[in-house]
Amino acid sequence: MNGGWIFLTRFLRDPIGVGAVCPSSRILARAMTNGLELSPGDTVIELGPGTGAFTGYIDKIIPDSDDYLGIEQDVKFVEVLNNQFPGLRVIVGQAEDTHQIHLDSGYKPVKAVISSIPFALVKDNAQIKIVDDLRRLLPPGSIFRTFQYLHTYRLPLAARFRRRMDEISTTFYRSKPVMANIPPAFVLTWIV
Ligand SMILES: C[S@@+](CC[C@H](N)C(=O)[O-])C[C@H]1O[C@@H](n2cnc3c(N)ncnc32)[C@H](O)[C@@H]1O
Repeated sequence: MNGGWIFLTRFLRDPIGVGAVCPSSRILARAMTNGLELSPGDTVIELGPGTGAFTGYIDKIIPDSDDYLGIEQDVKFVEVLNNQFPGLRVIVGQAEDTHQIHLDSGYKPVKAVISSIPFALVKDNAQIKIVDDLRRLLPPGSIFRTFQYLHTYRLPLAARFRRRMDEISTTFYRSKPVMANIPPAFVLTWIV
């Protein structure tokens, strides 16, 4: 099975959890990794790598593959990623537990979190838990980056997630719409 087909079958099984019908485009992957300046020893955590649309691009910009940690809730996706990226550590886990997973992992402090969690569909109680977890995880100067689709950007849960992130960070910026993606999306960056 190719990546796109696996993605679609997992979406049909769990549409809200997967949150998209197909993997993100290369253009969105470039926008998600654009301008991230990483030094050796900077930990990068990817939340919800799926079939790895961003993972190879993250691998290209991190000085050392040992500094990457992927956390994905879907066992099938983790299987795909472990085959495709044997040099990267991807585990089955929940974004809600990122701080504890990081503590247990022995990794150095986190410089960037690249997230694909579909926050426009994530209920308030889970959002609050994840943002509180990020507050404990992310040191000053670190970056949290995600994307939100244009058509879901104004949904109440999407807007509430942005407000919650604003509360734990100092700076926010939004990219121009990335039209070469299905569906088009904004890249959102917070600096803590
Ligand atoms: C929209 S897909 C993005 C996949 C991939 N990064 C891409 O851009 O093509 C969202 C991914 O987040 C994962 N996910 C959703 N909620 C999660 C959670 N609470 N913890 C970990 N992974 C989660 C889904 O299983 C899925 O792989």
